[in-house]
Amino acid sequence: MYTLGIWDGHDSGAALIEGSKIVYAANEERFTKRKLEVKFPVHSINAALAYAGLKHSEIENVAFTTTEISKTVERVFPFFKEEYYLLRRRKRPRPRFEHVLHKRKYLVTQVGVLPLCNQISKSQVSRSLRSMGFRNFSLNVVEHHTAHAATAAFTSGLKKSLVVTLDGLGDGLCGSVSILENGKLERRLGIAARDSLGVFFEQVTTLLGMRELEDEGKVMAMACYSYPYSYEENLLKDFFKVVGTSIRARYGPWTQYDMLRNVLFRLPKEQFAYMAQQALENVLLKYVSNLIDRFSITDVVFAGGVFANIKANMYIRKLEHLKRWYIFPHMGDGGIALGSALYSNYMKTGETDYRFSAYLGNDYGEEETESAVKSDRSLQYQKQSLQEQASHAAELLGNGNYLMWFQGRMEYGPRALGNRSIISASDSVDTRERLNIYVKKREWFQPFAPSILEEDVPKILDYDGKGLDKFMTMGYMTRESKRDITRAVTHVDGSARPHMVGDENPGYLELLKKVKKSTGDGIVLNTSFNLHGFPIVMTPEDAVSIMKATKTKHMFINGLFVTNRGGV
Ligand SMILES: [Fe+2]
Repeated sequence: MYTLGIWDGHDSGAALIEGSKIVYAANEERFTKRKLEVKFPVHSINAALAYAGLKHSEIENVAFTTTEISKTVERVFPFFKEEYYLLRRRKRPRPRFEHVLHKRKYLVTQVGVLPLCNQISKSQVSRSLRSMGFRNFSLNVVEHHTAHAATAAFTSGLKKSLVVTLDGLGDGLCGSVSILENGKLERRLGIAARDSLGVFFEQVTTLLGMRELEDEGKVMAMACYSYPYSYEENLLKDFFKVVGTSIRARYGPWTQYDMLRNVLFRLPKEQFAYMAQQALENVLLKYVSNLIDRFSITDVVFAGGVFANIKANMYIRKLEHLKRWYIFPHMGDGGIALGSALYSNYMKTGETDYRFSAYLGNDYGEEETESAVKSDRSLQYQKQSLQEQASHAAELLGNGNYLMWFQGRMEYGPRALGNRSIISASDSVDTRERLNIYVKKREWFQPFAPSILEEDVPKILDYDGKGLDKFMTMGYMTRESKRDITRAVTHVDGSARPHMVGDENPGYLELLKKVKKSTGDGIVLNTSFNLHGFPIVMTPEDAVSIMKATKTKHMFINGLFVTNRGGV
């Protein structure tokens, strides 16, 4: 039996599961080309069904999530959702009373689920599905943090774990703690939306002139450029306190916004970012530590947007009594379509154990790829085996080139993991700068991340031999002795956000092995195949268009080596 999970809010998307298999998962942004799309996920739903060869009428079980009042209003009046999206992404002029608008948002979104909203949301989603051709289906509502929890709990491979979720907010909560044990997932704690660490960091992002719900990672990166402060000197240290297993915000979101603004007025931006990051890390460390003590479970899994913060995750990883950990790779709301499907299926069948692969999206055959490449006369191409591609790519990287690498199924989640990647040598700062100027156009303080052969992880990173973080969800320090080879992928504080590569991606693995053969280390710089501010590419046509727009010279795409005559 198939279960379709859908999410129609921030970073909307769809996921399809069958039994204990995740068949397909993708987000709407890849289809509409609007980053973190908010529209009803028509394209992702259709793509999921097309991938499995199913008709709409064959789906009997659909799950969706989040029926709080603000989400329900958006379902009835999608105009509000669209306007907020355009404003948030700076596609609208700055409104006169921006600060008031920001504060008002939190008053509405903090309200939890009301029975009437649940009914209205259900009928709106049902109507949208019927208009797509769905007929005899049961529609299940999954609570927001339950959906987040299911993603981490059911894909970690651990039979017993403490499941922690923290985000901005959803369904009246900003966090939850559950236990997975004996095939049962049970909620133990909820954290009220008012006490949200996610909202705190979101407000810091907004006040720094960046886009909330999108640029929080930039705040984390910027913080590393500040003079260090002791925690005692941190002007934000009293904004939150941890009492046992609860987190308490000193101010409600409305007041907090003003208080943060007052602090920012006194500081350079990077120092404000530093204080916010340090405050977040301290609260998280204490909280997770207290949870482990209280529940006496040392294997902990995490989901929710707060755990996109790889620096905070790095400190959590170092907690002495934490044994094993897992951070669900699509930790933000983009992952809750899958979470809804997983939880709904668990309620029906009791299934709690899924093998997670990051490669869950669309793929394209050689014919489709060749036709996309052929359509442009300035592109030359030749067919190559995977072995030939790996050798050739390694040689080009060694000669100071960056290149596009497009293979197989699209990654699920925010990171490119070797199937829709742009790569260059990990030791060449010069190539990294060219890549940034011609292709990525990111802020100067954002670091690039490495892909590293699993076997080389211990010698390159401060790896302690516990588990593997395969999906760029965890911070590690690069070893001093390897700073020559990690020059272009180490942040100013010595940290990196690694993608650890094993046999789950044979083509990319082969490429890293070839790089290792010539340099001695299996490591490359890996950044997502997109233009800054746009989603990662999905189709070969997308890839060709970005290759042209960025004047990139070389691309390896599904068995073809493509050269752009107009490349630089
Ligand atoms: Fe969330």
